[in-house]
Amino acid sequence: MRANGLVIAIDGPAGVGKSTVGKLVASRLGYSFISTGKMYRALAWKALELGVSLEDDGALVALARAARWAFPKGAGPEADVSLDGRVLVLELAEERVSRASSAIARFAGVRLFMKDMQRQAGLEGGVVMEGRDIGTNVFPDAELKVYLDASPEARARRREGQLKLQGLPANYAEILDFIIKRDAQDSGRENNPLRKADDAHYLDSTAMPREKVVDAIVALFGAARK
Ligand code: DC
Repeated sequence: MRANGLVIAIDGPAGVGKSTVGKLVASRLGYSFISTGKMYRALAWKALELGVSLEDDGALVALARAARWAFPKGAGPEADVSLDGRVLVLELAEERVSRASSAIARFAGVRLFMKDMQRQAGLEGGVVMEGRDIGTNVFPDAELKVYLDASPEARARRREGQLKLQGLPANYAEILDFIIKRDAQDSGRENNPLRKADDAHYLDSTAMPREKVVDAIVALFGAARK
């Protein structure tokens, strides 16, 4: 048993609601929440800022190693990502950063750096960690693994709704196209592609309200703790 509780790994494709659901689960359990995608995004942002090539694994690893990473406690259950003393929030949501993060996530060296850092962050347990390879690669020994899925159409519809709520332009066809391309990139790469771990619970949230997904994971937690 880990000092602070279980490690709960949530993996799944882009736009499936892993962060929203993961944060709600963490709040219900008094756990912390870590989005590993933000770590990839932070490194991508730094590379873009400094003009480091997104095609050079060695240079990206050197950049990651030289940076001072910290994960200070944020307002809710989620830790912030701070690089060299700068807390990154809005920067990580930029479209160019999103695209660059998926590109650098292909590389074996970058992934190994991230895996070590993520294991360090979650080793004591009491954590919900969300990403693409948590159950398969980062914490193959997680006490609870969930693979959250939804059809690309349902994910695109949700994203369209979120953007419209924020008063931002939203084009369903473009969003769907983006989601399908991102799925192909994340699942098709050679190093730790997105896939369900054999011992992960599969949850298809296409027709499931968010609260029901949270309830289902909390119920799985109750069973995993026994
Ligand atoms: O979840 P996200 O969209 O913030 O992740 C950004 C990119 O990082 C995503 O395209 C894939 C990559 N990623 C990954 O390869 N492995 C993870 N554990 C998390 C994210």
